[in-house]
Amino acid sequence: MAKHHLDANYLDPDYEPVVNHSDNTPFHAVLSARMQRRSVMKGGIGAALASVMGLGLVACGSDSDSSSDSGTTPGDANTPDDGRRALGFEAIGISHANEVVVPEGYTAKAFLPWGQPLTGSYPEYRPDGSNTGADQEQQVGMHHDGMHYYPIDQLQGGNSSSEGLLVMNHEYIAPRHIHSTGPTYYSDGLRPADEVRKEIAAHGVSVVHIRKDGNGEWDIVFGSPLNRRITGATEMEIQGPLRGYHKLETKFSPDGTRTRGTLNNCSMGPTPWGTYLTAEENWHGYFCNDNVDVPREQQRHGVARQSVAQDGSIRPAATRYDWEKAEGQEDQYLRFNVTPGAGSATDDYRNEVNTFGFMVEINPFNPQAVPQKRTALGRFGHEGVIFAPAKEGEPIVCYSGDDSRFEYIYKFVSSQPYYAATAGGYLLDEGTLYVARYNDDGTGEWLPLDLDDPDFAAKVAAAEGSEVGDILFDGFENQADVLLNTRLAADIAGATPMDRPEWGAVDPVTGEVYFTLTNNTARTEENINAANPVVQNRNGHIIRWRESGDDHKALTFDWDIFVFAGEQGTETLVDGEAVVTLDDTNIFNSPDGLWFDYNGRLWIQTDGYSDNVYGNQMMLAADPDTRDIRRFFVGPQGCEVTGVVTTPDGTTMFVNIQHPGGNWPNAAEDRPRDACVIVTRNDGGVVGA
Ligand code: FEO
Ligand code: CA
Ligand code: CA
Repeated sequence: MAKHHLDANYLDPDYEPVVNHSDNTPFHAVLSARMQRRSVMKGGIGAALASVMGLGLVACGSDSDSSSDSGTTPGDANTPDDGRRALGFEAIGISHANEVVVPEGYTAKAFLPWGQPLTGSYPEYRPDGSNTGADQEQQVGMHHDGMHYYPIDQLQGGNSSSEGLLVMNHEYIAPRHIHSTGPTYYSDGLRPADEVRKEIAAHGVSVVHIRKDGNGEWDIVFGSPLNRRITGATEMEIQGPLRGYHKLETKFSPDGTRTRGTLNNCSMGPTPWGTYLTAEENWHGYFCNDNVDVPREQQRHGVARQSVAQDGSIRPAATRYDWEKAEGQEDQYLRFNVTPGAGSATDDYRNEVNTFGFMVEINPFNPQAVPQKRTALGRFGHEGVIFAPAKEGEPIVCYSGDDSRFEYIYKFVSSQPYYAATAGGYLLDEGTLYVARYNDDGTGEWLPLDLDDPDFAAKVAAAEGSEVGDILFDGFENQADVLLNTRLAADIAGATPMDRPEWGAVDPVTGEVYFTLTNNTARTEENINAANPVVQNRNGHIIRWRESGDDHKALTFDWDIFVFAGEQGTETLVDGEAVVTLDDTNIFNSPDGLWFDYNGRLWIQTDGYSDNVYGNQMMLAADPDTRDIRRFFVGPQGCEVTGVVTTPDGTTMFVNIQHPGGNWPNAAEDRPRDACVIVTRNDGGVVGA
């Protein structure tokens, strides 16, 4: 049995080909008269090579001439100043240790590691990697990511901080750790089906019923019917405009209404009605096509296809984990090869890949509820979703970033109004999807991706017959086709290509929307724009904006940059004044996870490079009013820190550690296990205060 060695890059979650070849809004085309006000970031030590085109924006909203402004601009006199957002802990230094480090007075403890028995017969975790596929289907999955805590009494209007449902994503897997000796390949290139079953089962989502015991320690409620695993094989419904569209018809679902599994679940978003939306991010890597020419639905996402080498030889297409090579020729595995057969679409899986790339709704309180893929929110590399506070009688508004280099930030506005008494997932099935354009003067626009919008329809008509990026655009059949090809539609609309949008967060005090832009080393002098002003942006930044009139459904906004990440001495300037200067207490790179806690503190998690300067990946807290940023948590070696939530009372914080190296968290075992970490204050107080 030969071992198969994949290109190391291919297993790197951050490795993505640039697939946006459109040439949207080159900077020189949108220079504005306010250019002279910029200069935002000054590099720190060693950053001299990074050329910066900064925009010295005033703080969000202060440019607004709106007299109806509710007046919670950071730093202005109307900002609630009850001290709830102030940071009350001493920042910790960087760390290279293979353990979690938290400030003095805090305790951190690993919880719910990969392989933790969770459902069914509660199969015990075997530290030698020998658990079967069936075992894994009943155990916590691998590579924990986005996460949310639901008070057990939430649907009854309660707020329990001692019992709840912890729901978490399992983004992907480490093949070398999940099996005893890594993945197995037979001499004919096929793989044992049970290995593939196990890998698919380690993906998806865990719903974990947890409760504090008499000693104040959290544990699983074993035997609870609410404990649940959702995997890459769980049956799901397609909802919204793509339900029944002919480009989603497969042998499994000839009417295009169902599919199996959710994959590469990165961040998430709790809905205002108590469900969980999990994001499908780098799903393209699970599929391959044995053709050179592939449909735009695949091409614009970089689904693997055959290529012709310079010497004329054919390079075969390969998927990330070779699930389509499972022995036994079962449909459930063959579906990952989307090469069309000789018959029609309902005879094969040519359209399987069109059933991925969505936000998927899971009702954690109903273990029988079939997960719903909400297609009105668009199909792209969803990192997560963040809802604006729901208002009675108003549409639902949510934001979602597409984490790939030069991709976009989107907003969905529901057609139907929200009423707390009747709200549900149906609100996500009908509405308008917009994409963001960040103008260089600090204003922004939401561009509708809607064929009923005359402006968008005109752009679509004008683009027909021409190259959009490297795709010859031959029109959209209908609105379902627009949503299936969301990235292409956004190219045509003229959206601003961003430096890899990851998590978003909405400030509960000011209503401002924050997004992490994790990094983008492919950003050049030729394609910088004011919102993405750093050439070879290695460290990333955090952007924020305020919707016009503080109305989340507004079509315009004002934006600024909250902070540029980097080394000691990196400055974020506003009108020439440094509002943040990073030092030993808060240097970081590659912001990724982002969350406002229930007191309005902003938590920033990193997934970047670890070296002598930065140490291991970390989490920082920020007071958004003062931009006081302090390092709170450093993870073990090799990990990213991703996923954070607290109980409603703020006294227990859950933080996920993904792809740790070494043998964290159990030094007695010989392989690492992704795990959640419970952080508490030794005096029982609010974490971060
Ligand atoms: Fe899965 Fe973009 O992080
Ligand atoms: Ca992420
Ligand atoms: Ca990341």
